[in-house]
Amino acid sequence: MEKNKDVVMTVEGLTKVFKSGIINPEYTVAAKDVSFDIKRGEIISLIGESGSGKTTVGKLILKLIKISEGKIKYKGKDITEINNKAEVKKYYRRVQGIFQDPFATFNPLYRVDRIFDMIFDSFDLNYKNKSQAIKEALDDVNLNPDRTLGKFPHQLSGGQLQRLLIARALLMDVDILVADELISMLDASTRIGVLNLLVESCKKHGMAVVFITHDLNLGYYVSDKSLIMYKGRLVERGNTKKIYENPIHPYTKMLFKAVPEIGERWDQDVEFIPEQVINDVNEFYNNNEGKGFVEIEEDHSVLFSDKEYK
Ligand SMILES: Nc1ncnc2c1ncn2[C@@H]1O[C@H](COP(=O)(O)OP(=O)(O)OP(=O)(O)O)[C@@H](O)[C@H]1O
Ligand SMILES: [Mg+2]
Repeated sequence: MEKNKDVVMTVEGLTKVFKSGIINPEYTVAAKDVSFDIKRGEIISLIGESGSGKTTVGKLILKLIKISEGKIKYKGKDITEINNKAEVKKYYRRVQGIFQDPFATFNPLYRVDRIFDMIFDSFDLNYKNKSQAIKEALDDVNLNPDRTLGKFPHQLSGGQLQRLLIARALLMDVDILVADELISMLDASTRIGVLNLLVESCKKHGMAVVFITHDLNLGYYVSDKSLIMYKGRLVERGNTKKIYENPIHPYTKMLFKAVPEIGERWDQDVEFIPEQVINDVNEFYNNNEGKGFVEIEEDHSVLFSDKEYK
């Protein structure tokens, strides 16, 4: 996989087991044997129900938690070997995350300009004219500098703050942006706007995005590649169109059957994994015993059996 020069990151057999409690420790396998790669400028949707392990994968990529098993390589280098301060800083210069609640990223006491000052202070950014560069990045995300810079976070909307964070990532020429539930807190109209911006900017700057979402809301419409997670396992992986047109895993089938039309609201109250799906998955694994993860066509792989599925 690494021979492809467009590949910026490879995730191989990634596993995370959380241990909680001391006397009677409980172990949660949050991610198990997850493998995929990330190419330059690629938009990837990481989709799955609540608790399926999506944020865990995002955090592992961002080095926020320790890998239990498997490897993540960034430009060929094992990220667990990136340890000293200078190297870690260099890593975060190119691999960044934006989380669900943009307000948490901003210090309420400072004007929002500070997020730009900070990157210019900490990193050696190659721009002749700093304020011109900021203006252009804001332009890319459809923000009016006069109406945003100089404001305090509480004076801006969640969508505007998220766009500021995208502008920051663009200025830094980030290779990989992990966007965890980026749009879920926005209303439907802003949502489409932010999403489109993200896609356009990515294509323009060659920035890859790992777009984490649990409700499929529009995310997969824009992604080149989809990763479907179910109970910590990647159950289907590949070209979004191929998966959408020919879903094989029972969980994926259920997801796509339930996808709302563009602009339509997802009903959050619907129970996400009906009993039927759990049974279907069981039957599917039993019928395909021993097959494991198989590439069924170019750019489309499916988990046919899982020994440990309960
Ligand atoms: N620090 C932790 N300690 C123990 N268990 C954890 C920890 N973080 C996550 N988990 C468990 O790991 C599993 C996966 O969690 P994760 O946050 O990755 O899910 P998710 O797919 O992002 O869900 P959501 O859509 O609700 O955000 C869950 O069962 C969760 O309870
Ligand atoms: Mg999550």
